[in-house]
Amino acid sequence: MLSINLKGKKAFIAGIGDDQGYGWAIAKALAEAGAEIIIGTWTPILKIFTQSWSMGKFDESRKLSNGKMMEYLKVYALDAAFDKPEDVPQEIRENKRYQDAAGYTICEVAAAVERDFGKIDILVHALANGPEVKKPLLETSRNGYLAALSASSYSFVSLLQQFGPRMSSNGSCISLTYLASEKAVPGYGGGMSSAKAALESDTRTLAFEAGRKWGIRINTISAGPLRSRAARAIGFIDSMIEYSKANAPLIKDMSAEEVGNAGAFLCSPLASAITGVTLYVDNGMHAMGLAIDSQALQRSQEAELADVKG
Ligand SMILES: NC(=O)c1ccc[n+]([C@@H]2O[C@H](COP(=O)([O-])OP(=O)(O)OC[C@H]3O[C@@H](n4cnc5c(N)ncnc54)[C@H](O)[C@@H]3O)[C@@H](O)[C@H]2O)c1
Repeated sequence: MLSINLKGKKAFIAGIGDDQGYGWAIAKALAEAGAEIIIGTWTPILKIFTQSWSMGKFDESRKLSNGKMMEYLKVYALDAAFDKPEDVPQEIRENKRYQDAAGYTICEVAAAVERDFGKIDILVHALANGPEVKKPLLETSRNGYLAALSASSYSFVSLLQQFGPRMSSNGSCISLTYLASEKAVPGYGGGMSSAKAALESDTRTLAFEAGRKWGIRINTISAGPLRSRAARAIGFIDSMIEYSKANAPLIKDMSAEEVGNAGAFLCSPLASAITGVTLYVDNGMHAMGLAIDSQALQRSQEAELADVKG
């Protein structure tokens, strides 16, 4: 029987803050396949994440199909907007949610993971941040735009720079992207659409570079809308879910688990010849060129029918 077996593999997942997002779903699918999980959680929410975990808030979501609970080897504070300690501005160091944390820049986390666990096999980038995401691109400031690119796209380049040499050959990396990279999605602003376009382009270039250098595969999943914490903050996620259901080829809810399973596949030996790909896991929404529930469309169809009738 063909199955995904990741026993003996170690995965570092950057961007888990609760049990609602794609990072969690991918971690869970990797754990289902037998991988060991190491987590990077955004520094300001690390405490709430670990407290919620130990208080049992995630217990229901942690249940695996074999009856065991998903565990992690360790969770690290990570701020993927910073590559090395010198990059962290004074006001962030002094911020009360960072004061007690240390070693949260990308190069420090990668070194700590290697020190604690040796080489890893799988790297997952499940994070994004655009401070001006609610502003149209036309109204986005330079700082807002660059912050979106820094946290959401360059963070992947930097993670790969640091983890690449610390990964086993045949290792695999995935990130998460969104259709707004290639089609206009009003409401997904602040340079986030540009950040996702960069992430997808970098997937191809890095697939070549990291493939030649370390034998590592790089892919990205273009995921359909999910009611994660980040998506709720953007504000129109419920309408996007409804829109997708009304217009996508597959008329069904899309679950985070489906993205998790695709992630586990991409990270497994079953995908050993797949690299540089943007894989759509979105009920087929990307294939549509027309909103079939459009009122304009309905009006013109009604008019045509009226013409035919008489
Ligand atoms: N939710 C959707 O509809 C959707 C659709 C397509 C793609 N995605 C992508 O999926 C990925 C995961 O997002 P999600 O929607 O599951 O939400 P999420 O809230 O579960 O994940 C986003 C995570 O990024 C973390 N983060 C933000 N800034 C960070 C930083 N500087 N350093 C480290 N971590 C940081 C947040 O703490 C959070 O845990 C993102 O790349 C997102 O763009 C989401």
